[in-house]
Amino acid sequence: MINIEFEGTCKSQIAFVYEDSDAFPDIKEVFTGEFLAGFPQLCQNRLTVYIGLGKKEELTGRKLMDAVSKGVRELKKYNRYEAEADLSPVWESFGLQSARSAVLGIKLGLYEYDAYHSGRKEESYRFFLKGVEKSAEAEQCLKKASNLADSVLYARELVNTPGNLLTPELMAENMERRAKKLGVQAEILDAAQAQELGMGAFLAVASSSGNPPKLIVLRYLADPDSKERTALVGKGVTLDTGGYCLKSPGTMFGIKGDMAGGAAVAGAVFALAANKVKTNVVAVIPACENRISDRSFAPGDVIRSMSGKMIEIRNTDCEGRLILSDAVTYAIRKEGATRVLDIATLTGAVVGALGFSTAGVLTNSDEWWDEFSEAAKVSGEQYWRLPIFPEYEDLIKSAIADIRNLGENYCGTISAGLFIKAFAQDLPWIHLDIAGTAWVDKPVFEHQAVGATGAGVTTLYDMLEGANRRSGKSD
Ligand code: BES
Ligand code: MN
Ligand code: ZN
Repeated sequence: MINIEFEGTCKSQIAFVYEDSDAFPDIKEVFTGEFLAGFPQLCQNRLTVYIGLGKKEELTGRKLMDAVSKGVRELKKYNRYEAEADLSPVWESFGLQSARSAVLGIKLGLYEYDAYHSGRKEESYRFFLKGVEKSAEAEQCLKKASNLADSVLYARELVNTPGNLLTPELMAENMERRAKKLGVQAEILDAAQAQELGMGAFLAVASSSGNPPKLIVLRYLADPDSKERTALVGKGVTLDTGGYCLKSPGTMFGIKGDMAGGAAVAGAVFALAANKVKTNVVAVIPACENRISDRSFAPGDVIRSMSGKMIEIRNTDCEGRLILSDAVTYAIRKEGATRVLDIATLTGAVVGALGFSTAGVLTNSDEWWDEFSEAAKVSGEQYWRLPIFPEYEDLIKSAIADIRNLGENYCGTISAGLFIKAFAQDLPWIHLDIAGTAWVDKPVFEHQAVGATGAGVTTLYDMLEGANRRSGKSD
């Protein structure tokens, strides 16, 4: 339990310090304020941890969030579970955004996944944000940031949950439960309904497992004045062994996290609903496992997708693009999507290109990319756009069918994304490959913990919240 308020005092505090500032002359000799440097000082039982912010002109919302995470973790080291965090040094430059960064920094920074440790106990925390001008707006900002943080943690929790405890069915039930609480409409389609819709690509992958697939649809339609309906399509492979193109043992760990895209879109929709953002959004999450069975799809098969396009299977480990292609068709035909964003732990190749800090992006819309990039500036998540020049399309041409599910031995992130683009029917489309950013064995940023990061939730939220704010429809 973590409580964050504006009013209150206690005997621990976090003090933020810019590099080379004169704010605390008595410690200047031992503490320069370098970004993320930490220094504890105990004075008459009052513990102060000084946290460096680095250079004032280089501070961003994300770095502030990381500094706050560092602060709360330092305090935890000394078993202090209550603290004041003084935001006055950053108030001038960041205003209410500093309160948001603080809330995210606290909640994300304190998260750890140890759900199955016997004897585990949950700590209770209280924090007081100082130096914030109190107002109804500030209170609202605190509440909204807290809801957003909870959604990131919701996504992390799902991704961290072992595959045997989060089958497609259990994930669907989990999401449906949360949707009900937040007034989000949930519809769960089963294999028979998917069959009825002709979702041959989704069902081909699902055929590999005895655990039945689910198509999870979450609708949050809160802007009757707009005809826009954004589809957020998230990969929901709860376990990816590779199928007959089996992964090697060394690459198997982490296969439970292949539903991180699905968790991200659910998290984003839940945050939008909790914060009553006026927007129309539908999340579509094809959830299934990729295993081996005597019913499995196999390399060489040709399958009929919902769109009617015939797909040649070249590799059963390229299952994500298959289930996403049908989910995209579903979002357009059945949910009336006017633009489509898909997000997935899709390719190892994106890790080779961008590592663990930055997700890969493909899009056919410069305009939407600009809007998305603005949102990423607010959230602080890092995304990098890759090209989709026409010659790359040749990589997924098939001699015997309309398209094939494997490219060549190079630029695997682009060919995987282009496969999905083939189903987006020329609508504005953005594709996010979070295979590198959704999971960290070694955290890159201070607000992360080992394991799931909750990648995508904040940027998707900020994109739709920002669009709403720009059109002046904010509540
Ligand atoms: N889910 C994986 C991609 C992945 C790799 C996610 C590493 C997270 C970390 C995807 O389904 C997959 O298996 N992709 C293959 C494609 C390859 C066979 C062309 C890959 O990237 O290795
Ligand atoms: Mn795979
Ligand atoms: Zn996969």
